[in-house]
Amino acid sequence: MDTKMCRVLGLAIAVLFLTTSLASAACNEDDLRALLSFNSSFPPHTLHNWINTEDCCSWGGIYCDDGTGRVTSLLFSNEPFNDFEPTDLVGPMPPSVGDLSELVGIRFENLPNLVGPLPRQLSKLKKLKSISIYNTNLSGPIPSFLSQLPALEQLMMTSSQFSGSIPPSLGSLEKLRDVVLPGNGLTGSIPPSLFSRLDRSVLATLSLGQNKLAGAVPRSFATVAFQAIELHDNGLTGDASFLFGKSKPVNSILLGQNRLSFDLTGVEYPVGNLEYLDISHNEIYGSISEQIKEATKLTYVDMSYNKLCGRIPSGGSFGNITSRYFSHNKCLCGSPLPPCKK
Ligand SMILES: *[C@@H]1O[C@H](CO)[C@@H](O)[C@H](O)[C@H]1NC(C)=O
Ligand SMILES: *[C@@H]1O[C@H](CO)[C@@H](O)[C@H](O)[C@H]1NC(C)=O
Ligand SMILES: *[C@@H]1O[C@H](CO)[C@@H](O)[C@H](O)[C@H]1NC(C)=O
Repeated sequence: MDTKMCRVLGLAIAVLFLTTSLASAACNEDDLRALLSFNSSFPPHTLHNWINTEDCCSWGGIYCDDGTGRVTSLLFSNEPFNDFEPTDLVGPMPPSVGDLSELVGIRFENLPNLVGPLPRQLSKLKKLKSISIYNTNLSGPIPSFLSQLPALEQLMMTSSQFSGSIPPSLGSLEKLRDVVLPGNGLTGSIPPSLFSRLDRSVLATLSLGQNKLAGAVPRSFATVAFQAIELHDNGLTGDASFLFGKSKPVNSILLGQNRLSFDLTGVEYPVGNLEYLDISHNEIYGSISEQIKEATKLTYVDMSYNKLCGRIPSGGSFGNITSRYFSHNKCLCGSPLPPCKK
């Protein structure tokens, strides 16, 4: 090999080495700047396991892409979690989260001292697919700026203090398939625009239980392929029969504790996957179709506290379900209630 060739090869190897070592060892400068700002937003010693001399990708709660070395996920929890050291974040969510431009997922769980609204800077995270907030004291509205996150697939903000109404603009997100916001103080009605741009072959989850939502369940949901639709413990009114249908893929329909009012007589129960069905504590009338016996995966049925009448279907796997509740209706009869009068 001539010396020129040798030099070129040497250079190539050096460059290769440099890039791999950069990718695997050194924290991206922009990410580092954002993380140092994040750190300085909290009282000293909060993130005591973040050591300046170590790669930021090894810091607690920080996850990087192996290839690019960029920070892709944040995970903070007050509770131990695999090899993860619990951290209590005291104060608001720092705006600097919005400067981690390659973030794909954020998870803040069991942080009772994390307070205040979501920072507007989150709207800069164009690659963000998943927001998961559970059991915090974050508050304020479900911000409409979340509709500026084109990659968002999952919006999960549970058991926190969010209030106000669900922004209709979330319906403009084509990828948004899981809207999971139970246990907050949400008011207003459910926007009919939700899931309107979602591919109909993608399974969706809508979980809004334990809020203060009112109005009707949007009729546009009749064509959404729900995997779970959980709207219990709200003040919803009117018809919800269009959520049912023999061929729907839905696994869980929880509508209990509302003021829904519709005729159950002609309703066909999804036969493929339905396991959990709760329509209790509503004003639902009519009778229960024998077709429910075709829903052989059912393990839990609660139809108590409605205005239903007629014979409860018996036999087959339906008669064998151990968790079946039918009491406090108008005139339902048959097992597990007293026998029907001839
Ligand atoms: C985080 O901030 C504290 C002061 O609040 C500081 O002592 C510590 O060195 C910072 N950590 C890093 C990794 O810079
Ligand atoms: C919110 O804070 C209050 C008191 O400050 C506390 O009792 C409550 O547990 C917190 N909520 C959550 C979900 O952590
Ligand atoms: C229902 O239970 C009975 C008695 O335990 C059993 O013989 C029968 O096979 C069960 N039927 C179905 C469809 O699971």
